[in-house]
Amino acid sequence: MSNILVTGAAGYIGSHFVRRFLNAKSAGQVIAVDNLSVGHRESLPDTERIHFFENDIGDLEFARSLFRKHDISAVVHFAASAYVGESQEQPFKYFDNNVIGAINLFKAMDEAGVKKIVFSSSCATYGNPNYCPIDEDHPQKPVSVYGNTKYIAEKAIQALATTGWSYVSLRYFNASGCDDSGEIGESHDPETHLIPLALQTALKKREVLSIFGDDYETEDGTCVRDYVHVNDIADAHLLAFDKLESGAKTEINLGSSVGASVKQVIDLCKEVSGRDIPVKVCPRRAGDAVALFADHKRATEVIGWTPKYDLRSIIETAWNWESNRKY
Ligand SMILES: NC(=O)c1ccc[n+]([C@@H]2O[C@H](COP(=O)([O-])OP(=O)(O)OC[C@H]3O[C@@H](n4cnc5c(N)ncnc54)[C@H](O)[C@@H]3O)[C@@H](O)[C@H]2O)c1
Repeated sequence: MSNILVTGAAGYIGSHFVRRFLNAKSAGQVIAVDNLSVGHRESLPDTERIHFFENDIGDLEFARSLFRKHDISAVVHFAASAYVGESQEQPFKYFDNNVIGAINLFKAMDEAGVKKIVFSSSCATYGNPNYCPIDEDHPQKPVSVYGNTKYIAEKAIQALATTGWSYVSLRYFNASGCDDSGEIGESHDPETHLIPLALQTALKKREVLSIFGDDYETEDGTCVRDYVHVNDIADAHLLAFDKLESGAKTEINLGSSVGASVKQVIDLCKEVSGRDIPVKVCPRRAGDAVALFADHKRATEVIGWTPKYDLRSIIETAWNWESNRKY
């Protein structure tokens, strides 16, 4: 078996994917690239099967050299800047990294004849939904710079597919939870995701957890989101990767198809941690949709994927990590 290139390999989802890949495939090297702008070198195991490069994957000459030197057959592209709020403040950081950087990677791939990719897209490409659960035919009208950059990269890949590329663009909903081993997990600074924020508040690392709006038209007034375990996302990449061989060209939602409100998540975090989580209700945030959850039928039909972790086990694995973090 030839090798795969994994970009953003030392990030939250990338590091979980690399672990699952090494366990699932007995052969093949992982060419792992991460500029460590956000990622953690220690999230990757020490093994001869990983060649790690601390570089910017959007650097065209560097990307070209990778394809020249290593026998790469496919790419799993996680590397991106991934903060919605920051993308509104620094739009060109996002255009540079998520669009221009991605196009440079695609160019280097194409020149080397590597025309297979699994791409990290996002539910942010849908914008404010017309209906839920959201299927892949739902119109894409991203409302943030970040969502737009993912949309543009999706479109570039679709265009390349008309020239012979095969691809699976996976539109993740809210990645959450951590590996059951407790050895790797979510470590973002700043952290913006609800579950780690709630658990850090339970641990008194934060004084209070903000709830943005409790007057939405939902059962308890708080926004509804779809949480999917990071190992389930990693496994979907393995399944998608195997589909590239048969010429897949598709976009697939990765969500649990079950929505949970902010208050429901917080209550479950209290239950799992056995601790109090002080909250403060703040005004709604501009651009927050009332509800966002996926219809994942296509994932089941096309790649045979269904999520294995429910919300409780997501929070249990996150608690296991958060209360004993390695990085
Ligand atoms: N976490 C989520 O809920 C979620 C949801 C939808 C989509 N995504 C997408 O999934 C991917 C992974 O997300 P994550 O949560 O693991 O984020 P992350 O920030 O933890 O991981 C991204 C990694 O890419 C690296 N990186 C960024 N730009 C790079 C570059 N130019 N060259 C090399 N390395 C670079 C960072 O250092 C980081 O380690 C991203 O593309 C993100 O947009 C994430």
